[in-house]
Amino acid sequence: MTTKKVLVTGAAGKTGLAIIQALAGRQHHTRAMIFREAHTPLVHSAGAKEATIGDIRHRTHLAAAMDGCQAIYHICPNMAADELSIGRSVIAIARESGIEHFVYHSVLHPQVEKMPHHWQKMRVEELLFESGLNYTILQPAPYMQNILAYWSSIFQDGHLPLPYNPDTVINMVDLLDVAEAAAIIIGKANHFQAVYELCGKENFSQREIVQILSEMLDRPVKNQFTDREEWAASARENGLGEYQVETLLAMFRYYEQFHFPGNPFILTQLLGRPPAGFRDFIGRHIAGDA
Ligand SMILES: NC(=O)c1ccc[n+]([C@@H]2O[C@H](COP(=O)([O-])OP(=O)(O)OC[C@H]3O[C@@H](n4cnc5c(N)ncnc54)[C@H](OP(=O)(O)O)[C@@H]3O)[C@@H](O)[C@H]2O)c1
Repeated sequence: MTTKKVLVTGAAGKTGLAIIQALAGRQHHTRAMIFREAHTPLVHSAGAKEATIGDIRHRTHLAAAMDGCQAIYHICPNMAADELSIGRSVIAIARESGIEHFVYHSVLHPQVEKMPHHWQKMRVEELLFESGLNYTILQPAPYMQNILAYWSSIFQDGHLPLPYNPDTVINMVDLLDVAEAAAIIIGKANHFQAVYELCGKENFSQREIVQILSEMLDRPVKNQFTDREEWAASARENGLGEYQVETLLAMFRYYEQFHFPGNPFILTQLLGRPPAGFRDFIGRHIAGDA
């Protein structure tokens, strides 16, 4: 199948915009499903040919969004408490709409029950196995881009806030590599019925991360341990919901206890080159290009 039209859900978020850009770079015709009309120019400037406004929790909106599309790249809104139920209806409508390729943006190690957002993704994956659809499941590690949320603290104060032990080892992947892999596989029958872990080049402890930041910024950067209870209180004060707070706390505890390493072999195979390393990513950001 050569893809004619790809629907991207969660299109105006961090992941969605990167996926649209990569799909456009490989001449895929993309329809972006967005929640707010105000995001229309954003998805068009990323390269979407069409934008459709709708609520992912509404079956009629989903059916209208999928109408005329041959493939779907399903991104669930981050930390959605009802990700499983959203996944169930997206899969059902995809079957009814005759979608030829369903790509699901999952997460590295969805098997981990101790992290509720991972566990929900595993159950969505299970629904895909049973759906009869041609599917590909992508399981990205945490993005390097997440660190940019703390950039002013890193750059101005020399602190990387951290609600877990700095010896914790985590694999991080460059979201642009994930998006390129997505654009490579979409609509390709040789990637049907496949599950791919997408990991970056290195497994670094948070001590190593601040060391690299210090070297590259040429100024001291230190891990700043944030007490988890204090973190939770401030997250609640800032309006984060209870499911999200508890889920993130579970994730921090899991990372600290078990670490979260990964292996870049599959992403290297898909891209035909090694994925970006953390130094590559930070170098690009410093140069104003990430
Ligand atoms: N961050 C990571 O390191 C990482 C790693 C692996 C996997 N993932 C997964 O990637 C996925 C996307 O994460 P993200 O950070 O890119 O998400 P995000 O920035 O929160 O984007 C989600 C998008 O979904 C839209 N949305 C929210 N509610 C909606 C609704 N009811 N109907 C339709 N659209 C709705 C949001 O629209 P508005 O902007 O209008 O609210 C937003 O544009 C998540 O499932 C996450 O678990 C993330």
